[in-house]
Amino acid sequence: MRILAIESTCDETGAAVVEDIGKEVRVVSNEIASSSKLQQKYGGVVPEVAAREQIAAIIPVVREAIKGIKTEDIDGVAVASGPGLLGSLLIGVETAKSLAWAWKKPLIGVNHMHGHVLANWIVENEEDETPLLPAVALVVSGGHTELILIKTMEEWVYLGGTRDDAAGECFDKTARIIGLGYPGGPMIAKVAEEWRGRGRTKTIKLPRPMIHEEGYDMSFSGLKAAVAKMAEETKNKDKEWQEEMADEINQAVVDCLMAKTERAAEAYKPKSILAAGGVAANILLRKRLQILGEERRIKVSVPRIEYCTDNAAMIGAAGLLKGREADVFGMLPKPGMAVVD
Ligand code: KG4
Ligand code: ZN
Repeated sequence: MRILAIESTCDETGAAVVEDIGKEVRVVSNEIASSSKLQQKYGGVVPEVAAREQIAAIIPVVREAIKGIKTEDIDGVAVASGPGLLGSLLIGVETAKSLAWAWKKPLIGVNHMHGHVLANWIVENEEDETPLLPAVALVVSGGHTELILIKTMEEWVYLGGTRDDAAGECFDKTARIIGLGYPGGPMIAKVAEEWRGRGRTKTIKLPRPMIHEEGYDMSFSGLKAAVAKMAEETKNKDKEWQEEMADEINQAVVDCLMAKTERAAEAYKPKSILAAGGVAANILLRKRLQILGEERRIKVSVPRIEYCTDNAAMIGAAGLLKGREADVFGMLPKPGMAVVD
């Protein structure tokens, strides 16, 4: 099967063509336009600005993704139908509906977070392996932070997650407090790596909320508050301070995520641990997961960096799975609604 997938939940506009080779997914094309540079001006995503940019980008991005591909060779259209910003979502969903209707192909609505997880099933070469099940999945993005036990592709069990802010949100907000731009995650990670490289001794210590508590729940709002308080009390907020803070924030967030992931690995003895979502692009988190896997002899799977942050290929991966499960390929679209939503 080969499908067109569209992603427009936030400030990225993505379109991709993907096909399945057994359980695995191959990317034929993957295009993305982002309004994140524009959002930098405001220090975060302004929903109205994001939606307006989606309108401008959607057609050129889809056109680029299907370049050289005959529409009769496309078996369906998948679209991220939530969660996300309403104005942004509408653009992708309406475009996908129209294309499915015009091409007489089934339309498959995909949960954006499901897409993030399914990015782990994308393979680019022979060395890329897909996760073994059961798997413990750490799903970490700008809006979500969850630990899920994936028993089979159909049976997912929520183990725990953040009680307040998401890990990505914590990166974005603390980056703003210490004077680094938007998006905060990549900025903090970059500055932290540089600071580490210089081999300085650390003097700043931030809390690791809920790290020793039972269960798999997490909390990041206390960490954000601690950074805000420290920034208020520090007179000399020079570059050295900013870099050291970035490193400590990076370490603290990753420590919290790792503690609960490790606990889940210990309790459920999965065949693999996987990470998904924008924060899974974090180099420190990827290293620590790798170490955990080696220590416990559990396979670790993380998507390539470009499939961690928002993209349409992952929506295609989830759309293929969902479409196959519901047996919709070959069906005609129903007017105005998804065959699977
Ligand atoms: O999955 P994603 O692209 O969008 C959502 O679904 O939210 O995730 C975006 C989040 C942002 O909060 C961003 O700061 C964070 O992922 N992020 C990172 C890194 N790259 C993106 N956080 C830490 N380290 C990174 N390298
Ligand atoms: Zn996302």
